[in-house]
Amino acid sequence: MGCHHERLITVILAAGKGTRFRSKKPKVIHKILGKPMIHYVSLAARWANPEKLIYVIGHEKEQVKNAIDCQGCVFVEQEEQLGTGHAVAQTKPYWEDFDGIVMILNGDLPLIEGETLKNAVKYMDAMMRFEGAPAEGGHDYRNENIAGVVITTMVPNPLGYGRIIKDKNHRIIKIVEEKDATHEEQQINEINTGIYLFYAPYLKQVIDKLENNNAQGEYYLTDVIQLLNEMGKEVYALLVPDYTQFIGVNDRWDLAKAENILRMKYLQFWSYAGTTFHNPETVYIEFDVELSPDVEIYQGVSLKGRTTIGEDTVIEENATIINSTIGKNVKILKGSIIEDSVIEDNAVIGPYARIRNNSVIKQNAQIGNFVEVKNSVVGENTAAKHLAYLGDAEIGKDVNIGAGTITCNYDGFQKHKTVIKDKAFIGSDTMLVAPVTIGEEAITGSGSVITKDVPDKALAIERNQQKVIENYAEKRKKKYEK
Ligand code: UD1
Ligand code: CA
Repeated sequence: MGCHHERLITVILAAGKGTRFRSKKPKVIHKILGKPMIHYVSLAARWANPEKLIYVIGHEKEQVKNAIDCQGCVFVEQEEQLGTGHAVAQTKPYWEDFDGIVMILNGDLPLIEGETLKNAVKYMDAMMRFEGAPAEGGHDYRNENIAGVVITTMVPNPLGYGRIIKDKNHRIIKIVEEKDATHEEQQINEINTGIYLFYAPYLKQVIDKLENNNAQGEYYLTDVIQLLNEMGKEVYALLVPDYTQFIGVNDRWDLAKAENILRMKYLQFWSYAGTTFHNPETVYIEFDVELSPDVEIYQGVSLKGRTTIGEDTVIEENATIINSTIGKNVKILKGSIIEDSVIEDNAVIGPYARIRNNSVIKQNAQIGNFVEVKNSVVGENTAAKHLAYLGDAEIGKDVNIGAGTITCNYDGFQKHKTVIKDKAFIGSDTMLVAPVTIGEEAITGSGSVITKDVPDKALAIERNQQKVIENYAEKRKKKYEK
């Protein structure tokens, strides 16, 4: 037996404003784990492998199109948002001559799983054939009565969703929207998820016949079911038990709930892939982050953007890492912030360090408490363990940066570079007024303000001689006794 797939075109509805978000931005581009909500719907849609993917866009269409960022996709404009049925009608030119399935997805279903959509296509495919018909049978074996499948689910609280009215054989008679439902209909817990599969030639016959004489004055896509029934065609409910996949995100609280569910799902994925989490309820990891086996993550950690973490690395409480590459066996201690930077193997960062603007911390380097590193390279085995600012600096290997060291890189107009060569020793509280170069194995005395280059192996010291006045304490007391 060959592997026959029913032909498939997928339509995603994303023209709506999302009034309940109370936002300047269109609803579907609001982010979940760092990606626009629509991204997750697109991912799931692709999993079912449609030959064409069509987006209906309208409100702030350019923003939505940019967020979707798909070359091969079709974008159809719905100028006025007159309802989900009207939205689908706009896409008709793309499937009116198509002998296959049109799958329609609401754009506000970020939790939908690709596998669920794939199964729905298989189910529809099976329904469209007479029982026992060979898969390659094609038209000869087609059950001409089957017009569609709607994915439904049972929810504890169906408020706001369309209710499924069906007969004993899972055949749907109609879908009633919350606002149009009678009191009895409102008691029904089986709801329309907003995912539909229709046989294109039948959908074509009814899509332009929808009316808007309902509570919201909209052209409801759901009304095609009654129109298909009138033609003698049948639409079946595919009841999927896991209702959490089908949360329709209508406001920002739904968005927060959906993000929490997805967040835990991805943490579970990483956990099975070899990451240890402590208190995972408090850990936030975005979609583009990649972890390695034997990584250990403590509570309150945020990993954002394109961040990768190497094997055996430990990330302690409340550390935040954004668009950065962290090597193997690195220790990121409590409260550190790393952004747009690279931390190489075996480095130790923090507690409470800040590393940013394309900095590179090389192998075995140590960046300690309250040290800020900006646009700098810190060489292998170099240590800056306490209270320093290193900006626009190029620091070699085996350098020691004393507590309180500052690269004075800004003169009020321009930024200047500090170069510190291998094995240099920068005494505590040195001010390095850039541009300045400290030579190999050179030393600066504590508290010095260094404005000129220091040659290799030299000592540079810039401070007044210490005065000692014997017995000063006694003299001072006497002065006050007078
Ligand atoms: C819809 C269904 C409801 C179902 C629920 C599932 C209808 C009439 N109702 O209700 O039965 O239980 O989804 O979450 O379909 N859109 C457009 N153009 C429009 C209107 C909407 O593209 O003119 C898009 C929206 O951007 C959104 C999707 O269609 O992504 C669904 O629209 P929405 O207004 O959220 O429908 P619901 O009221 O949630
Ligand atoms: Ca919705």
